[in-house]
Amino acid sequence: MDHLVDEFCVDNFSEDALERSFARLEEMLRTEFARIKTDEDRERFRLRWVGRKTGGLTRLSAQLAGGRPELKRVSGKLFNTLKQRFQEHYHLWELNPFSPYALAREAIDITLPGTRTLLGAEHPIIRTMNEIVAVFQRMGYSVGIGPEVETDYYNFESLNFPPNHPARDTQDTLVVANQERRPLRDRLLMRTHTSPVQIRTMERQPPPVRIVIPGKVHRNDASDATHSPIFHQVEGLCVGENVTFSDLKGTLDHAMKEFFGAAVKTRFFPSFFPFTEPSADVQISCIFCGGKGCRKCKHSGWIELLGCGMVDPSVFGFVQQKQPDYDPRKISGFAFGMGVERIAMMKYGVSDIGQFYSGDMRFFKQFGSGGRLA
Ligand code: DAH
Repeated sequence: MDHLVDEFCVDNFSEDALERSFARLEEMLRTEFARIKTDEDRERFRLRWVGRKTGGLTRLSAQLAGGRPELKRVSGKLFNTLKQRFQEHYHLWELNPFSPYALAREAIDITLPGTRTLLGAEHPIIRTMNEIVAVFQRMGYSVGIGPEVETDYYNFESLNFPPNHPARDTQDTLVVANQERRPLRDRLLMRTHTSPVQIRTMERQPPPVRIVIPGKVHRNDASDATHSPIFHQVEGLCVGENVTFSDLKGTLDHAMKEFFGAAVKTRFFPSFFPFTEPSADVQISCIFCGGKGCRKCKHSGWIELLGCGMVDPSVFGFVQQKQPDYDPRKISGFAFGMGVERIAMMKYGVSDIGQFYSGDMRFFKQFGSGGRLA
């Protein structure tokens, strides 16, 4: 290396001098890179900097190897950074869409029309969910959400489904693998309903509570025209002093009229849920025939729509472990839960639940401007 004047030679007598020299080399790298116009230019650039025998960085490395030992740590670092800069620039050439290299490869025709961004529409499930939520918001309810991966405690135990109780069988559950070593209450599962968020809400805030909870739920169910292993629910909870079953009836009757139209009637049938007592199923007068009886309502004039009931005192008992104000002797409440897909299918006249998840634009386009009431 006996070049008298080598641009790749650095001043190697102090840290300062090294830094100045490397800054100069980086500047040189940038300038030369900017001049590259063809593949041949690029190859010359590569040989000049990192060619095996004649490359500038190869010579520089030899110079530094013979330099003062106490400066080697600094010079080594500066050298590596410079080398990395070279690599970045070298590869940048391929990535730059406007380099002649890239243009030749892709043959971009700038006279072609641009890509148009299409205006989207809310998915019918999300829209239905938002509409239901809005009905309750107008009644003063707040909106909450909760996790989709839940513990056994929140999904079942605190909602009064004891371990091994047969009521658990009504919700075929997808569990997270490898949880066997944990206590049952801490094991993770995909929530089977939005009801666990009732508990999470009450644990966080003392009464009164008025909240609706929209969300996705999971069950180990086979898909068919009316079932999907993933679907959506809207949950509701109202807790305070002197909340009665009449409040529950009035609230849901009003909500159904708001949602389906003022002519809709409701009726309440005895039912069972572990976390409510008494429990009821709510039916609405058939929105297709007005209650006269048709195929859609199986000639009964009524359609079953949601579950509800008065919050079971034992549920408040679980909450009290964290929020003592939920004393069942002082407060009461009601809860309700409904399946969004079922309501959307009815509202839009969809007969196969799978259509919602198909991604088929011909299906979704129908909802672009208000949808269609069957
Ligand atoms: N969690 C119930 C289910 O998924 C639905 C339900 C019924 C929710 C009654 C409620 C309720 O809050 O009070 O089957």
